[in-house]
Amino acid sequence: MQPDVRKVPAWDLPTRLFHWTLVVLIIMAPITNKLGVFFWHKLNGYLILTLILYRLLWGIVGGTTARFSNFVRPFAAFGYGFDLLRGKARHFLGHNPLGGMMVLLLLFVVGAQAVLGLMTLDDIPPTVEGPFASKVAESTAELASSWHRRGFGIILACVALHVAAIVFYRVMKKENLVRPMITGLKDAGTYEDAQAATYGSLARAALCFVIAFAIVFGGIKLFGSNGAFM
Ligand code: HEM
Ligand code: HEM
Repeated sequence: MQPDVRKVPAWDLPTRLFHWTLVVLIIMAPITNKLGVFFWHKLNGYLILTLILYRLLWGIVGGTTARFSNFVRPFAAFGYGFDLLRGKARHFLGHNPLGGMMVLLLLFVVGAQAVLGLMTLDDIPPTVEGPFASKVAESTAELASSWHRRGFGIILACVALHVAAIVFYRVMKKENLVRPMITGLKDAGTYEDAQAATYGSLARAALCFVIAFAIVFGGIKLFGSNGAFM
């Protein structure tokens, strides 16, 4: 007899696409830098910024598990953390309260790195600069550049923690979180937050992306130095 493994929707397509595209672009950032192809490094950075902005919008109007209102619970995160330490099993269809905090941290460090990039200046010839490097005070550009150089290490540390948490759930809790982030589906069960997610509409996701793209690329074109992207 087949075991009963009914599946329920957990992550909608726009959220999954966001996640895996972000992973690819983050990998491309140091590669384009090392190869010295700054046209691509900057374009890659603008796309990362677009994705982060898109995710902020999607966190307001997206599917249930993507919405910040459903997973940003700072106080519940403490309680969840204690329960985790005590070995008490609690199940969430979307992000658990502690995972939700980690999501905010990841969005913040990646978004900050991209914003700092916009003001970064590398004056060792051939000179490369972000579109706002000569628009801000020299001291601001210098500060942004030094944090941009350090920022990737901070991102790597956060990603290492993120992946370690996923491995912890796999090994200690026997819970595979990666497969649902690929297929969108989780085993039916009793979850604290919801028994099934309502997926956000693709048209709305496309609109969020277009708005984010227009803000990032339009903003750089209109307000960046000489209206140039690269
Ligand atoms: C550059 C590296 C990465 C970044 C910046 C990143 C960022 C994120 C973000 C922002 C979320 C929240 C998704 C959302 O609600 O929109 C997330 C969730 C998730 N990520 Fe990553 N991620 C990275 C790498 C990975 C890798 C390598 C894996 C696989 C091992 C992974 C597996 C997951 C899973 C399973 C979730 C859902 C967690 C849950 O069930 O609450 N991520 N990640
Ligand atoms: C989240 C997006 C981004 C990531 C992850 C990223 C990552 C990196 C990394 C790893 C470096 C090498 C730092 C080092 O030398 O140790 C770098 C350098 C640089 N990035 Fe980005 N970057 C991003 C976005 C941007 C953007 C949007 C721009 C400009 C439009 C930009 C402009 C630069 C410049 C000019 C350098 C050379 C700085 C120097 O070596 O003095 N980056 N970036």
